[in-house]
Amino acid sequence: MQLAIFWIATAYVAGALFLASALGGTEPKGQAKAIHALFWTLIVVVVGSLLGEWAGIRQLLPSLWFWFGDQGWEYLELGRAWQILLAGALLFWFGLLVRAVAPAFRDPERREIAGLFLFAAIAIPLFYLPAMFFDGATHYSVVDAWRFWIIHLWVEGFFEFFVTVMVAIIFFQFGFVTRINATRIIYLDAILYFAGGFIGTGHHWYWTGQTSFNMALSALFSALEVAPLTLITLDAWDFVRLTRSRSDLGGGKIEVPHKWTFYFLMAVGVWNFVGAGIFGFLINLPIVSYFETGTLLTINHAHASMMGVFGMLGIGLVVFAIRETVSDTLWNTLEKYVRVGFWGLNGGLLMMVVMSLFPAGVLQLIDVLENGYWHARSLAYTGSDQARLFERLRMPGDVVFILFGAVPIAIVAVRAYLERGYGQPVPAARIPMEDEK
Ligand code: HEM
Ligand SMILES: [Fe+2]
Repeated sequence: MQLAIFWIATAYVAGALFLASALGGTEPKGQAKAIHALFWTLIVVVVGSLLGEWAGIRQLLPSLWFWFGDQGWEYLELGRAWQILLAGALLFWFGLLVRAVAPAFRDPERREIAGLFLFAAIAIPLFYLPAMFFDGATHYSVVDAWRFWIIHLWVEGFFEFFVTVMVAIIFFQFGFVTRINATRIIYLDAILYFAGGFIGTGHHWYWTGQTSFNMALSALFSALEVAPLTLITLDAWDFVRLTRSRSDLGGGKIEVPHKWTFYFLMAVGVWNFVGAGIFGFLINLPIVSYFETGTLLTINHAHASMMGVFGMLGIGLVVFAIRETVSDTLWNTLEKYVRVGFWGLNGGLLMMVVMSLFPAGVLQLIDVLENGYWHARSLAYTGSDQARLFERLRMPGDVVFILFGAVPIAIVAVRAYLERGYGQPVPAARIPMEDEK
């Protein structure tokens, strides 16, 4: 799980760096070296923390477990030292973004968007800090309060907001939306996300000893989150229409540059609606959560939203960066793999959800209602033939996801890196910004 999160985060961090340079118009001196340093720091955090967790779980770090081993908190397993290194690396990342975006501040057309981009970016390291607001002996309720300040506020607040900003910037860079419309979308989404998302954090605190006031407020506000998610999906469909429509001028089909990046962005919109909107909403009300929490229905929501939204976005950004940096000749061979990868990832995730996680979650919930929560979570249920059948049915989706999704995309990334000097080094169809025309 943690490896998957790291993987998604890396794609995200890299994509943001790339967009920052596109927005700034140039790449500042020494940026490439700094990005390599960031990359290796990330490797140290990933490998070090995973080894530490392994050693911690095996009780090999009797006195250092808190600093280097496994803290034992889901999603925040990594030891405190790794967390500090991670937070430092994210601040360094922000510094690199500032450097790259800086020239945009001299252009009135891009100034506001550049500012919003940096605001959205700084929130990510800033809101990682609550991960340090507790130590190895803090009470469970207190830890869980801070823990979801990160997990929830990242995924349902700042990441979502950052996604909107990045998508708006991509559309703006291509000339699909005007500056006014791009900033309007960003402000509107900020209002909607933060209105629901902030107080909605409490949907993770229903059962951690908070007051019933928390329950009422958080149920209401997280239910409201469906509104921005629906809007985003409508945006995605507008985009599908745009790519399919015919140009007014020549009557021919509009040639969309970065077609696959936009396909991934559309996938983000769709999974946002299904995974976060529908599946999140499904488990969101306290009366449902009371019976459901900790069953496979949570896992169903978590997979569909985490991979569906942030996973697809990360890969979309990687594809964007690769398309911009390889020659047309190389792209023509790589595009086939991207196509297979796109359908493999989305099809595999859909199969996981439809064949295994969702039905297994519903059946487990029925067992909670019939025989009690204790029963549905005991071996008597999870070891039953029916539960095992749905567990096995995860496999087809996983196989499709890996073989037709992860593998082709990995091939694209490796080949793009190794063969980047091959053919004409023509940067792809980036629409020039105002001042370049
Ligand atoms: C892209 C956005 C989202 C992502 C990535 C996401 C991810 C996750 C993850 C990973 C969990 C599992 C946490 C755990 O194991 O304790 C979770 C739980 C939860 N999510 Fe989301 N989520 C998103 C949006 C939403 C939305 C919009 C809602 C409500 C409408 C929602 C409602 C919930 C609830 C109620 C839980 C707790 C379930 C439980 O404790 O069993 N989520 N989410
Ligand atoms: Fe949440």
